[in-house]
Amino acid sequence: MPSTVKNATLLLLGRAAVRAHALLGDPAARVVGMGSAHDPYAEYERVRRAGVLVRSRLGLYLTASHEVCSSLLRDPGFGVLPPNALAPVDSTAHAGGRRLVNPVEESFLVRNPPDHTRLRRLVTPWFTPRGLRAQAATVERVVHAHLDEVAARGTFDLVGDFAARVPIQVITELLGVPNADHASFARWGSALVNAIDGVRDMGEMRALHTALREFDAFLDDLIAFRRREPGDDAVSALVSREDLSREDLVATTGLLLVAGFETTVNLIGNAVLAVLGDPAVRERLVADPSHADAVVEETLRTDPPVQYTVRVPAESTVIAGTRVPAGTPVMLLLAGANRDPAVFADPHRFDPDRADVREHLAFSSGIHYCLGAGLARMEAAAALRGLFTRFPDLRPAGRVRRRPSRVIRGAAHFPVTTGTVPAHATHRHPIVEITG
Ligand code: HEM
Repeated sequence: MPSTVKNATLLLLGRAAVRAHALLGDPAARVVGMGSAHDPYAEYERVRRAGVLVRSRLGLYLTASHEVCSSLLRDPGFGVLPPNALAPVDSTAHAGGRRLVNPVEESFLVRNPPDHTRLRRLVTPWFTPRGLRAQAATVERVVHAHLDEVAARGTFDLVGDFAARVPIQVITELLGVPNADHASFARWGSALVNAIDGVRDMGEMRALHTALREFDAFLDDLIAFRRREPGDDAVSALVSREDLSREDLVATTGLLLVAGFETTVNLIGNAVLAVLGDPAVRERLVADPSHADAVVEETLRTDPPVQYTVRVPAESTVIAGTRVPAGTPVMLLLAGANRDPAVFADPHRFDPDRADVREHLAFSSGIHYCLGAGLARMEAAAALRGLFTRFPDLRPAGRVRRRPSRVIRGAAHFPVTTGTVPAHATHRHPIVEITG
């Protein structure tokens, strides 16, 4: 596969250059190039100390300012950039003469109006408050079915055995995917999403190509099935449109699936990490399960699954007193903006009682504001309520391993026990994070 070798070579050279700049202290290179065990929040504070808008030798600007992030996200003069633009890969691949579509790189998530408006409008009805209310019972049922499974085991992987399974089952049911194979979805989703900020080695490159091939074939089959047997789901509505190209159909369906679980799994994991790390929060949640909503919201602020995004000005423009040429990427550190002291008092403190928590930018803002925000909140709160009602003594049972991605923040593995082992035994397992 010569193109794979070429891609891998380009990538590894690109990553080596980013690492070299990171060692020299370049702020953007440190954000994207440091290992996943490194504390990203310390980097965002360095950016904040360096200025409102900071230039990087990688040819882009960065900001951790809430005011700047928020205004650029809502500014029609700024558009989106394909997600791998910071670590370019020619991920265009072919299978049996057909071009494989990467939903993360070709869907309306990374398109500008008018395409963005046209495609987003087609799937919005499934994510309105009314559409969501219809999902509440499904979410509760799915959460408790998976809790039943882990309850019998005592010790389990919070991510692989629970946090990943709930959103996969919810979004596949919502999209009318029959007999969804959870393990394949988990594998495809992490290969696609981990590659957003660049493929790290040949192993990841191969995993990405395999995932693209399998996911594309799966989406093709799903689309053919819904053409034969339409239901009242989003995919059936999409296939009934005659004005959609095969690429748009595959990319939109694929985006809804992948965005529907690859982020929510991390929200659940990050929220459980926060609860297990703070005895007062845990005590209150166990005593009052309705506290889960506030814990989820504060997790979105302090440890959001999507750490940053990028916008590009269509024309040369001045941002915070600095002229930024047309087409120059600006990296918006959403997770940094969420800890901006100009908006949030004592910003590094985990405080579920903050009145202004909803000012956070975890779901972005403007026309790309997360379509699934309501669903994600509902799933994560139900997961926390269920976990701490059923297992009030839940505790870590080993070391947390982080995902390798820097855009997406979450645990890859998180061993926990339901508390059936004596407390003194689990105290030997504090939450120690190791790199992915
Ligand atoms: C905790 C979970 C989630 C987080 C943190 C999250 C975060 C985000 C963010 C930050 C964006 C915008 C990116 C940008 O502005 O460049 C986005 C867009 C999007 N999200 Fe989510 N998301 C989550 C869950 C979901 C779920 C459950 C769905 C359900 C399908 C979903 C579907 C989408 C879609 C379709 C877009 C593209 C919107 C557009 O471009 O107009 N997300 N999400």
